[in-house]
Amino acid sequence: MRNVELKARDADPERTLERALALGAEDKGELRQRDTYFKGASGRLKLREQEVQGSPFWDELIEYSRPDRTDARTSSYQRVPVADSGPLLEALDTAYGTLVTVTKRRRLLIWDGVRIHLDEVEGLGSYLELEAVAEPGSDLSAEHAKVERLRAELGIDPSNLVAASYSDLLLGESGDSRSAEELLAAADEVVRSAYVPYSKFPVGAALRAADGSIHVGANVENASYPQGQCAETSALGALHAAGHSRIAEVAVVAERIEFCPPCGGCRQRLAEFAEADTPVHLGRPGGPRQTTTVGELLPLAFELDPAG
Ligand code: THU
Repeated sequence: MRNVELKARDADPERTLERALALGAEDKGELRQRDTYFKGASGRLKLREQEVQGSPFWDELIEYSRPDRTDARTSSYQRVPVADSGPLLEALDTAYGTLVTVTKRRRLLIWDGVRIHLDEVEGLGSYLELEAVAEPGSDLSAEHAKVERLRAELGIDPSNLVAASYSDLLLGESGDSRSAEELLAAADEVVRSAYVPYSKFPVGAALRAADGSIHVGANVENASYPQGQCAETSALGALHAAGHSRIAEVAVVAERIEFCPPCGGCRQRLAEFAEADTPVHLGRPGGPRQTTTVGELLPLAFELDPAG
């Protein structure tokens, strides 16, 4: 299943409710939801227990992933109905541990197939969410158009848009941190495709382009040793082949050491397409992380025309 969704702080939920009703949105009443998030998932895994208008409603296990962006974004998810949430909660908590619990009151309205959530989140305050559930095979343009129209009609100011999830907001984890984890996970995944018969030192690199897309590469060695290519260089080729020319964020993962700073040559190659403050994350997903910048790694970088 896929969604196009938007989240914003809502300083005046009553006014938003009035506007939504005036647009003809159907009022589905109030839900109480408690979402328990578990550790160790590569995306997000939560058990949702809920009541509708004060009566128990079906519970569900939800697995989902989506980028942390403020503009309308696509999220993919799976929902599994749960008959008996108590023992499942206990089992998952014992196996993985609980990351955070999000409790909220949600007024649900539906307008032209778009879900409008007026959320009162414990510990965070009032938020509004718009979710357009995508038709199978949809190119998502209709869903984006509906979300954009509703955003404008409800008077949601772009300055109030929020990229992070409620769980991240409660954990105090910034979008930056999620972004780093996502990039490290991509680098960690590609390590497996390294060709390293000589050094036996697999490395993976992931580069985020300016549009948020991720491009990966691993090191590829050669019997003529100096012809080997580093992971960062492979990733750079992939980014360029996909039509991008700027790097917004870098992650490097090595199998055999905790932090693998790019070699000197790769620093120069990265600097060609990055800014001095472009972040470079070293580590492994879910593990200790060291974040530096391209400028810190390569001070006084060589440029042909420093003024240009
Ligand atoms: N290597 C990388 O791919 N990236 C780095 O940042 C450092 C080194 C590779 C090159 C070679 O295949 C292996 O690691 C051992 O030097």
